[in-house]
Amino acid sequence: MPSFAHLTAALALVGTSLSTPVQLNKREAFSVEQVQRGTYLKNGPAQLVKALRKHGKPVPQSLLDAAENRANAANVFSLADVNGTVPAVPNDENDSLYLSPVTIAGNTLHLDFDTGSADLWVFSSLQPAASTKGHDVYQADATKEKKGYTWKIAYGDGSGASGKVYADKVTVGGVTATSQAVEAATSVSASFAQDVDTDGLLGLSFSTLNTVKPQQQKTFFDTVKPQLAQPLFASYLKYHAAGSYDFGFIDKSKYTGPITYINVDTSKGFWGFNATAYSVGTTTTKANVAGIVDTGTSLLYTDASIVQAYYRQVSGASVDSAQGGYTFPCNAALPDFAITVGGVKQVVPGKYINYAPLSSGSTKCFGGIQANTGLGFSIFGDIFLKSKYVIHESGSTPRLGFAQQAGV
Ligand SMILES: *[C@@H]1O[C@H](CO)[C@@H](O)[C@H](O)[C@H]1NC(C)=O
Ligand SMILES: *[C@@H]1O[C@H](CO)[C@@H](O)[C@H](O)[C@H]1NC(C)=O
Ligand SMILES: *[C@@H]1O[C@H](CO)[C@@H](O)[C@H](O)[C@H]1NC(C)=O
Repeated sequence: MPSFAHLTAALALVGTSLSTPVQLNKREAFSVEQVQRGTYLKNGPAQLVKALRKHGKPVPQSLLDAAENRANAANVFSLADVNGTVPAVPNDENDSLYLSPVTIAGNTLHLDFDTGSADLWVFSSLQPAASTKGHDVYQADATKEKKGYTWKIAYGDGSGASGKVYADKVTVGGVTATSQAVEAATSVSASFAQDVDTDGLLGLSFSTLNTVKPQQQKTFFDTVKPQLAQPLFASYLKYHAAGSYDFGFIDKSKYTGPITYINVDTSKGFWGFNATAYSVGTTTTKANVAGIVDTGTSLLYTDASIVQAYYRQVSGASVDSAQGGYTFPCNAALPDFAITVGGVKQVVPGKYINYAPLSSGSTKCFGGIQANTGLGFSIFGDIFLKSKYVIHESGSTPRLGFAQQAGV
């Protein structure tokens, strides 16, 4: 399921070389919690929709209208002055994933924006009704079908989906793509069907990871990029609170201190970069840490030696093989963790590294930092991103900009 879904392609990447591709044990680690979350959500989808409205910054109608008028007038995206903000709201009390409203062909769906994959896929009217219960769906319009095109995605936790492709109108925070590849599901795995809050994913990695055949399609970001005020988007995920994604502009009110830019390694289709050191509390150790940022992964996965160095400083921490990773007493004091990128430390406050109790009322908690065994690189998922404002810029030389969130 998307919450623990490990990015698609990272696993596609290592999947061939590993006997068990899901070495991260993500799903196992959280299987108990998943069941509970299911229960929790069954009672509360309406509340979550309300929460979205309550916490989400409403998109000003004027901006919507403006973007639309411009797109219509030009009928192409030639006017490069559009920008927009869309809320990103945690789906549960542990920030398992974040949802953002997206309007597709006039209907609003709530999608998990995933910088670790490149497909915009949605629950659709093509699926059997039983598998779309509780979801908002894309009403597939036969006149918009890209005939002969199909897609199929497999996430690292064993979940997946597949279907047909349409070219339709997609609006995110007032930014509209009039002809975006919308991948309409004909079939989704059970875990997706059960997660009634998530109506699909919106991939924001490089388009080279898109799974559409016979011809790869562009991500939403790549489609609208020429029309954006600046060729970038920023993630602003927050700890137990609603954040946002900004498209086409940098919101100076959302971070403090400098933005540190580093060129991106796009060779695997990810927003890849290298850190040069890590810190546990005040102790900094030099290390080359090759990693990616990925909003679609809940935790921070890094080299086992680094993870070990971290939990050595947490009293009562140990590897619990039944849980698939490090756990510790929920009241343990947690040191800050940092990586050094472009010479500047990017700090994750200690309390963010307490991901969640193993189950409701449990006094043992699951660590937000876990080993990337079998993966070969680090994934800086939500545990890392929640304290950052991260700029994903895709001009002639793609780069990432990291800044510490204001007020963290
Ligand atoms: C967003 O775009 C509008 C024009 O469409 C521009 O006036 C405004 O300054 C932009 N805002 C930012 C923050 O870039
Ligand atoms: C980043 O790390 C990888 C893996 O260790 C290495 O192959 C690559 O050369 C490094 N890139 C830079 C720019 O240092
Ligand atoms: C979230 O946290 C609560 C406790 O606050 C816990 O009972 C529950 O199992 C967790 N759910 C998930 C999906 O991690």
